Amino acid sequence: MSHNKIHIFDTTLRDGEQVPGCKLNTKEKIELALSLEQLGVDIIEAGFPISSPGDFESVHEISKIIKNATICGLTRAVQKDIEVAAAALKPAVRPRIHTGIGASDIHIKYKFNTTREDIIDRAVKAVKLSKNFVDDVEFYAEDAGRADLSFLALLIEKVIAAGATVVNIPDTTGYCLPHQYGAIIAYLKNHVSNIDRAIISCHCHNDLGLATANSIAGVAHGARQIECTINGLGERAGNTSLEEVVMIIKQHKELDLYTDVNSQLLYPLSRQVSDTMRVPTQPNKAIVGANAFSHSSGIHQDGFLKEATTYEIIAPSEVGADLSKIVLTARSGRSALAFRLHKLGYQFTRDEIDTLYELFLQVADSKKEVADNDLHQMIPESMKIVADAMAH
Ligand code: KIV
Ligand code: ZN
Repeated sequence: MSHNKIHIFDTTLRDGEQVPGCKLNTKEKIELALSLEQLGVDIIEAGFPISSPGDFESVHEISKIIKNATICGLTRAVQKDIEVAAAALKPAVRPRIHTGIGASDIHIKYKFNTTREDIIDRAVKAVKLSKNFVDDVEFYAEDAGRADLSFLALLIEKVIAAGATVVNIPDTTGYCLPHQYGAIIAYLKNHVSNIDRAIISCHCHNDLGLATANSIAGVAHGARQIECTINGLGERAGNTSLEEVVMIIKQHKELDLYTDVNSQLLYPLSRQVSDTMRVPTQPNKAIVGANAFSHSSGIHQDGFLKEATTYEIIAPSEVGADLSKIVLTARSGRSALAFRLHKLGYQFTRDEIDTLYELFLQVADSKKEVADNDLHQMIPESMKIVADAMAH
């Protein structure tokens, strides 16, 4: 396995499904799991089997069907959770149990009303029990972003010694700044004696809009797995967005990292997830939003029409999106107008475009966006006749 590969752990079907009102049935989950496998993700977190019979069934059915990706089931550090997850994962070619417990003092005191020692004890027992069922055991130290660092390092060392193959360092509350999250990963790399026996995973939430930045800081400091969801869906403000981290890693060659995701499937899958979960994607969403490849201001349109890379760092085809769009608004310039008229089959001289531009501005000032139909109607009949004659 290359040291530079970033494992993509998709949790759309588990953390993503925690979006209020997004409950998916087994059939919908299977369809999404098949698309995620085709996309090339390494791990699919298919659900939290103890949470409901429906979730158990989904994890079980997905485990039967998916052959290439690892299938992961979430548990608390609780015996019954682990046994039920193991049963749900039984048919999987590559099963993984994802178990864990709170690691910050806030969680230890208020959620568990216990001591740090007891947390370590429960964590180690959970990992050892999971190892009875599967080889691949991921441990999550919930709220690691706000945990005491030396305690976190000790906890991680103990669970690796107990057999954890992946150690997940969640910024559960989305609290960390990128340099702080990166420093946590660096600290673990330097202070956990057996850290080389496990993959460090980033699981970041987006409460301050930093989930993607934090995940990238994590891999820049030695983490080799990112937990993410399509469209960044997830609990509260969501999780790290899969399409963002994949494209950051692809665009920034200097990171010297790669994923096995086929980026050309990102846009279609984003649509599929949005439709299936009935959550519209915000138009300005990076990579997959409706406006991600639209150019609307005159300065940008002029530059883009001369050379696309002036204003586009990614070609839409790279992520399977529709062609870039030139949106005509009152901020558009003559070159955009001429371009769109040309696409509609008209050929006008520069002087004619100057005349039409004045008419265009009048229409544009009364509308948010000028559509093709508005353009047809705006052109005086006399100019249409001349344009037609020139075209034939
Ligand atoms: O945000 C979180 O800490 C989680 C864990 C259960 C991995 O989702
Ligand atoms: Zn989470």
